[in-house]
Amino acid sequence: MFGCWLVGLIDLYRCSEIVVFFCLPLFCVYPLNSKSFLSVCVLLSVAMYCSLIVYRSSSRDVMCYVGLVRPSTPPPLYSEQMSAPAPATKSDAKDSKSGGGALFDNASKSNYDVDTRRRIIGYDDMHHATPTILGAKHLAAATQPQKILCVGCGSGQEVITLTTAIPTATAAPLSIVGVDPSAKMLEMARTRLAAECSADQNKRVELITGYLNDLDLTNPKYTGFDAATSLLVMHFIPDVAGPTGKAAYLKSITQRLKVGARLFHVDVCGDITKPEFIELIDTWCEYVLSKGSTPEFVKQMKELMTEGKITKLVSEERVRQLLGEAGFVKIKRVYQGFQFTGFMAQYAGEPTPTPTQK
Ligand SMILES: C[S@@+](CC[C@H](N)C(=O)[O-])C[C@H]1O[C@@H](n2cnc3c(N)ncnc32)[C@H](O)[C@@H]1O
Repeated sequence: MFGCWLVGLIDLYRCSEIVVFFCLPLFCVYPLNSKSFLSVCVLLSVAMYCSLIVYRSSSRDVMCYVGLVRPSTPPPLYSEQMSAPAPATKSDAKDSKSGGGALFDNASKSNYDVDTRRRIIGYDDMHHATPTILGAKHLAAATQPQKILCVGCGSGQEVITLTTAIPTATAAPLSIVGVDPSAKMLEMARTRLAAECSADQNKRVELITGYLNDLDLTNPKYTGFDAATSLLVMHFIPDVAGPTGKAAYLKSITQRLKVGARLFHVDVCGDITKPEFIELIDTWCEYVLSKGSTPEFVKQMKELMTEGKITKLVSEERVRQLLGEAGFVKIKRVYQGFQFTGFMAQYAGEPTPTPTQK
């Protein structure tokens, strides 16, 4: 009981109930002798502490409150690191190493895997659809070894879904290469793979810390992919000409694909200068709040989506144009949850440059 009193005391720095916490027991027991004083004091403290726990209604908050888990607000992923992108390095200038995987290095299982499901409507269904969109039926029936590339695979949801959805006893071996610049995200992916997938399913997966251009183009292991995913990555990359832009990012994917390969690309689309987009984001913020996120987190999310400092959003039309210019055809919107938009597309080979591009 003394522990409860102590924990309550520790919590006082953030409680507006400080006056009540101290004064109520003293006030109530003032006329009693010292033994009764102590008992009543302890009882009242326990009651106060319990009511404070109830007051912080959600179960996660209770856990944070009693110190079992770290508080998720502000989530480190979107706090200091996100607002200070890593400075460009020499190699950034050579290839499309932008988007800032380092921004995700502060992520933890609780803040990425939990918060992502709160903010992206249908996140699990979108991932569940990935094998089908990539043509899992054909991949499983192929007689030649098949390879899938997962760009920005983060904490591993797509590699887990793919390796579990496509049976291991297929006609030809399947391999999945996941690449992500955030070592922290890949660490989570490895932990999840070990816990959620069989040894055979794990054997098919290779996770590489780095940017796509770190995968050696002269190594046949990292070229000639039969399918690829790029889920929730490109909106961190600026729409600029040159090696750090969205076009270069898509080019670095197509350089590694076979002609005919399918791509599942999910992006955050929107024009931040348009009032209707801000209105959509306001509605989305209400949704995220209704899913249990805190107002502080939702405020950060709104800034993230609308300020253009960290995310580099472009309209859906522009994403379609970029995919088309990279050589993708049959571009179909197959997923939409507020501003989160998913496209299925097929690589038709290097596009022939128009006379003005020559
Ligand atoms: C929002 S997470 C998405 C993770 C995962 N695809 C999912 O659906 O949950 C974005 C991921 O993209 C990675 N990333 C950022 N810039 C990148 C780039 N230029 N190339 C590859 N990955 C990048 C980040 O490190 C992060 O893990």
